[in-house]
Amino acid sequence: MRKITETFFFFRITNIRTFKSQLGSTILPMITSTNDMLSATTQPTTALNVAFSQRGLTTLGVRDNLGDSLFANGQLSGASDLGDKTSQWVPQFSASNIDGVFLVASDTIDNVNSLLSQLQASLQGSISEVYRVQGQARPGDQQGHEHFGFMDGISNPAVTGFSTPHPGQTVVPPGIILLGQRGDSKGRPSWARDGSFLVFRQLQQRVPEFNSFLLNNAPSQPNMTLQQNADLLGARMMGRWKSGAPIDLAPLADDPVLAADPQRNNNFDYTHPNFDINTDQSHCPFSAHIRKTNPRADQSAISNQIIRAGIPYGPEVTSDETASGTSSSTPSLERGLAFVSYQSSISSGFAFIQQSWANNPE
Ligand code: HEM
Repeated sequence: MRKITETFFFFRITNIRTFKSQLGSTILPMITSTNDMLSATTQPTTALNVAFSQRGLTTLGVRDNLGDSLFANGQLSGASDLGDKTSQWVPQFSASNIDGVFLVASDTIDNVNSLLSQLQASLQGSISEVYRVQGQARPGDQQGHEHFGFMDGISNPAVTGFSTPHPGQTVVPPGIILLGQRGDSKGRPSWARDGSFLVFRQLQQRVPEFNSFLLNNAPSQPNMTLQQNADLLGARMMGRWKSGAPIDLAPLADDPVLAADPQRNNNFDYTHPNFDINTDQSHCPFSAHIRKTNPRADQSAISNQIIRAGIPYGPEVTSDETASGTSSSTPSLERGLAFVSYQSSISSGFAFIQQSWANNPE
C-alpha cells in the first residue's frame, strides 16, 4: 500500500453502549497494527487506525490516568502556549466535542471511502461526524513533497526493535514513542501499553505568498539568477533543498542524487572539520526548520523525538492564485499540511519541539 490518500474522520460518540460493543467485536479486528505495516507483504489495501481524546475515553467510562497532562487537558487548553491564535483554528477543534478520530489511508480515495462506509455501517449510528480532513499526496513528480515543494518524510527516528537505522538516523528506545516500553518512565494503565499519543494539526500553507517572499527577499549570490537565489533562501529556511538534499551537505546548490540516497540524506549533524558549530551558519542557518526541530549535534542526547506521519491536504495552486500572488479565500482551495506526530509524551515530544525549539527565536 502506498499512502496516496488519507482521511481523518473526527467523530463524537452518540450511543455509548452500541459504540462500545461494535468497537470490540467489529472495529478492533479491522485496525492495522504497526507489525502489519512493517512489511509490504502484510500491509492491507486500506489501513485503519483509531485514536481517542480524553473526552472520548471519559465518555466510554475509562477513568485511568494516562500520565500525560497535555493529553488530559486537550490541545485547546494549550493553544496559547503553542503560539496559536484560536480565532484562526478550525472552529470544530475549538468546540471540544471530539471523542476520537479514525485515520483511513490507501492508494485510492475509493478504497478509503468504502472502508469509511463499512465503518459507519458497523457502528450502527453510534457516532456522528464532527469534521473531516481529506489528505492527498501531491500529483506527479511532486508526490511526497509538501505544498511549498519540499520533499517530506525523510527524517524520522529509527525505533529499536522495529527498524534498522540508516547512517545518521537518530535511534530511540521504543518507549520514546510507545507507552509502557523501555524508555518510557511514566506509570501507565496496562491496556495503554504499546499505544502512543497522536497529535493532529491542520496547518494552512499560503503557497503563492511563500513563493513571493522568497523572490522578494532572495540573497544576491553572484552568478545566480533571481530564481536560483530564491531557491537558495527557501533551502536555507527549510534546511533541505526541494529535492530533499540537506544543505548541511550541499550548501550552495541542490544535489538530487544525494537527496535520493538514504545512505547519505540523513547523514549529517551540522558539524564539519575546522568549523565552529556555534557560530558558522555557512552550511545551515540555526533558524532552518529542520535544525530547529531536531538540532542534532547542537544539543547533546536529545530525547525530544517524534514520529511524523502527516500528509498534504487541499488542491494544487490555481493559475489565478499564481497570477495574483495571493492564496484564494475560497475554503475548498485551502491547502496545507495535515500534520501528525506520535510520541509517548506530548510535553517532551510535539509540544517541546513547537514551543521550546520552533517558536523560540533564540
Ligand atoms: C506546514 C508546516 C510544516 C511543513 C511544511 C514542514 C515541512 C518539513 C519538511 C519539508 C521537512 C524535511 C523533510 C524531513 O526531514 O523529513 C521537515 C522536517 C521536520 N519537521 Fe516539519 N514541517 C511543518 C511543520 C512541522 C511542525 C509543526 C513540527 C513539530 C512541531 C515539525 C517537525 C519536524 C521535524 C522533527 C523534522 C525532522 C527534522 C530532522 O530530523 O532533521 N514540522 N518538515
